[in-house]
Amino acid sequence: MRYIESALGRLKLASCVTVASGTFGLEYFRLRDAAGEPLLPQESLGAYVSKTITYEPKAGNPSPRLCETECGLLNSIGLQNPGLKGFLQNDLPVLKETLHIPLIVSFSGSSTDEFCEMITAMEPYQEIAGFEVNVSCPNVEKEGIAFGADPEVIHKLVSRLAAITDKELIVKLSPNVTDIAQMALAAQEAGASSLALINTLWGMAIDWKTGKAMLSKKVGGYSGRGVKPVALALVYKAAQVAKIPILAMGGIHTWQDALEFIYAGASAVAVGTANFIDPGAPVKIAKGLHDYCKANDIHIRDLIAKVK
Ligand SMILES: Cc1cc2nc3c(=O)[nH]c(=O)nc-3n(C[C@H](O)[C@H](O)[C@H](O)COP(=O)(O)O)c2cc1C
Repeated sequence: MRYIESALGRLKLASCVTVASGTFGLEYFRLRDAAGEPLLPQESLGAYVSKTITYEPKAGNPSPRLCETECGLLNSIGLQNPGLKGFLQNDLPVLKETLHIPLIVSFSGSSTDEFCEMITAMEPYQEIAGFEVNVSCPNVEKEGIAFGADPEVIHKLVSRLAAITDKELIVKLSPNVTDIAQMALAAQEAGASSLALINTLWGMAIDWKTGKAMLSKKVGGYSGRGVKPVALALVYKAAQVAKIPILAMGGIHTWQDALEFIYAGASAVAVGTANFIDPGAPVKIAKGLHDYCKANDIHIRDLIAKVK
């Protein structure tokens, strides 16, 4: 089966569907359907995006750190990860061995220097096709305000990263900002080769019977079906100013959802929360888009940002 190809900056994607950082472990590729066939053939994905790594290892937040809500999912995983050294020593060889699709490494730092040190360490690895820069994390140089909340900070950070890497440089924007277009422009002008959005929105759930917050950290990241209209609007606003491609995510559960994001301005889409409900969701979305394009004799490139 051939899927709908696309491109993100320097990276050609054999399928316009990918998986969102932190929502898809390699073990998903081992799942089989009733006939014993892989539930999710790797080639249905244009790329694999890793869980965000940080310079130092992180144990993550205490439980409970996941909570299902009426229309989505709240999480406060706390970027649990083995750190840069652990990733390079233990995880990267497994990713190299397992994947035959491009690997995009998501990473985050607590200062601009830390981001630069990380990308410099990873740049020589041929098995890494691109980077997704997670700017939703606190910046210690700016009293803990997220990198992604200030266009000047984004510009400074992305300019330095772009000077270090020749690989695909995706900047994943935070939706928790007043003006997403400003952030998209800052990343583009600084040399990002594509944008990804959205990361999770701030969210909270409280048990009215006990008055207790459902997450140990009380507030977390909201994702899934409920965020789709917000994500669509942010992708649309970013696409109005961006000349670089957009990898869109936020509540994509079906191929029809994906198509809406393409109309809003996405060149490719990522599936996140839907993976927790149906690990086969990305392939269903990829097949659905393929069949729709074939039946209507069109390519998604003809529909990108063509919302009427
Ligand atoms: C459990 C969980 C863990 C996540 N971890 C990360 C992460 O490590 N890095 C990141 O950039 N985004 C992370 N995200 C955000 C997703 O990549 C995605 O941007 C967001 O969930 C919106 O897409 P969705 O509604 O399809 O899930 C995480 C989301 C969930 C639900």
